[in-house]
Amino acid sequence: MSIQYYQNLSDEVRALFKLDTSDTSYVIGVVDEEQFLGHIYYGQRLNDHRLTHLLRIKEPPFVPSKNNRDRCSFLDSFPMEYPAGGLGDYRESCISIETKGGNMGLGLCYVSHRIFTGKPSLSGLPASFGNQDVCSSLEILCEDPHTGVKVWMLYTVFEDVDIITRSVKILNGGKEELYLTKVFSACIDMDNRDFDAVSLHGSWARERQIQSVPVSHGKFSVESVRGESSHQDHPFMALKTKGTDQDQGEVYGMHFVYSGNFKATVHSDQFDQVRMTMGIHPEGFRWKLLPGEEFQAPEVVLVYSREGLGKMTRTLHDFYRKHLIRSVYKDQKRPILINNWEATYFDFNTDKLISIARQAAELGIEMLVMDDGWFGDRYDDNRALGDWRVNEEKLPGGLKYLVDEVNKLGMKFGIWFEPEMVSPDSDLYREHPDWAIAIPGRTGSLSRNQYVLDLTRREVMDHTYESIAKILRSANIEYVKWDMNRQLSDLGSAKLPAERMGELYHRYVLAVYELQGRLVEEFPYLLLENCSGGGARFDPGMLYYSPQIWCSDDTDGIERLKIQEGTALIYPLSTMGAHVSDSPNHTVGRVTPFETRGHVALAGTFGYELDVTKIPAADREMIPDQVAMYHKYNDLVREGDYYRIASYSENHSYDCYGVVAKDKTEALYTFVQVLGRPNYHSRKICFKGLDPEKLYKIEGEEGVYSGDVLMKAGYLAPNMQGDFKSRLIHLLED
Ligand code: GLA
Repeated sequence: MSIQYYQNLSDEVRALFKLDTSDTSYVIGVVDEEQFLGHIYYGQRLNDHRLTHLLRIKEPPFVPSKNNRDRCSFLDSFPMEYPAGGLGDYRESCISIETKGGNMGLGLCYVSHRIFTGKPSLSGLPASFGNQDVCSSLEILCEDPHTGVKVWMLYTVFEDVDIITRSVKILNGGKEELYLTKVFSACIDMDNRDFDAVSLHGSWARERQIQSVPVSHGKFSVESVRGESSHQDHPFMALKTKGTDQDQGEVYGMHFVYSGNFKATVHSDQFDQVRMTMGIHPEGFRWKLLPGEEFQAPEVVLVYSREGLGKMTRTLHDFYRKHLIRSVYKDQKRPILINNWEATYFDFNTDKLISIARQAAELGIEMLVMDDGWFGDRYDDNRALGDWRVNEEKLPGGLKYLVDEVNKLGMKFGIWFEPEMVSPDSDLYREHPDWAIAIPGRTGSLSRNQYVLDLTRREVMDHTYESIAKILRSANIEYVKWDMNRQLSDLGSAKLPAERMGELYHRYVLAVYELQGRLVEEFPYLLLENCSGGGARFDPGMLYYSPQIWCSDDTDGIERLKIQEGTALIYPLSTMGAHVSDSPNHTVGRVTPFETRGHVALAGTFGYELDVTKIPAADREMIPDQVAMYHKYNDLVREGDYYRIASYSENHSYDCYGVVAKDKTEALYTFVQVLGRPNYHSRKICFKGLDPEKLYKIEGEEGVYSGDVLMKAGYLAPNMQGDFKSRLIHLLED
């Protein structure tokens, strides 16, 4: 069993829980007569449980039962496993309430626990899963005797993949209603070991850029109050020790399985302790709990590595591939698609789409995706969202005719929706203006000229679902791109009572989950790709519903190096929507070789986003080879171990990463020389992840090299003539 329970270890430490994965241990203690839950340890696996000394309870301030005159000092320095606010712990808290009388203090103490194999699902929320053979769980019940608030803290240990997950469920066990004003899902208290905080920031067309800042006194947070996980910050934070790189150093990561407002904080206190927390953002959150009602908070994934960021990455990749993504496609090669967005924007019709499909089919492309513009009066992005009926002027003969014609060419067909939105200029809005999220009497802020539908209303959700499902039932549609092109503002729902308006942000996210859950249940073989103005809702919550997510609207091969590096830091390559697009690139105007665009897109799901009938013949002629390249390498890319070798975002010169088969018999490294270098010789690159004992040959080259030599002494990547040049280096065991 990977969870151990020990009792009566000392006068002060009543009980201790030790959670072990193959390489890590996580230890919690129950302290003092009051039964405070203290965090003792997280890190490298330990072979013994005698570590209660780390709680410092022999040092002043003593535990409150011995010296209650300094209770505040105790609460303000004790490493709380799930800290509550209002009673003397002045650091970042995990939970705050407001009672009917307006009070906010909460003191949570251990009551009981349960250890069991497997993992329960979380009501209404996406969450990782595992059966009784692969994980075991610890559920600790804590209670505040004063208010009757009960908190169940759930820990699940995935021993083989080195992951521990956490979540909490709150119950109002009192006699009066109360409000939850803050509910985080996880906290870790540690001594500050000169940590740096690693996070992912960005913007539209610049998602998930890696940032590292020293943790100093005060707080550093990443957060979203935009109603989605966002382009700007990402629901991920890691603390790393100084000098940590890809291969060495300690890393503590937290990743939120949630797609709405979030906050991740690291707080360095007066005693140089750090507290890292993660959960739903408290801003705009106020959840009413009647006596007997429960609130389930989303899950946080905890990861620890003592072999640098690279090990953290590979641990998360394995975990998400095995225990979060559910789609039948997760372990399958996806069809190579061609999407017409950058090819035509809104200017298309059946003939144009069929001519693209015909040409694409000849080249080996396997699916046509019809993007925005096929419905209602959608001739530009100012109208018609919500009117999910086929525009017969653009698609004479209807959708079924088009899909059948595309199928006759031997291609699958996919379609774009933006189900959560409504344009003011739409039949839906004219009929139901109150269906949009809005503050009564206030003109709502438009974004891309659209409003967000109040999906928390049953009739709105049902109408939305039926409109999409009807289209999907009407023809042989095998893929959906589910888009979400604006962030939430003007929070107000015509149906929620005033005292529940603070629930709207979270209820909205729950409604999106319910909608996507219904969709994948009715259409289990549908390949669903999530998207949000590019990659603004690329998060573990959405991966529970779709095996792939569009990474960014920035399809430039060179910008993608940075975006995909940041994304791959925590997400498997099999999840990253990546396409070869036109040149000059529509976002940055950069001209790059077709070959390089193909090599970069190969690190994701791979597809095309251009008018294949209009690109230069020389580029078009390369497509069959790229198609073959995808089929040759995609199993390895999807399933292998990812290694970052050099980062263009750091060195501003070249990029290199590789994927190595689990059995180390094959590896594929991608080398991109961003800028040409005059009068230099070749660049020495040390590969990673190979078996030092194996001999490898490099495809297309003479000679055989040992893995040991290739990793320690290196390989010579030739200096190529020109900018934005790339090479694939394919190794096979000799
Ligand atoms: C978003 C998506 C794009 C495209 C457009 C259509 O920006 O990210 O890929 O689908 O919407 O409006």
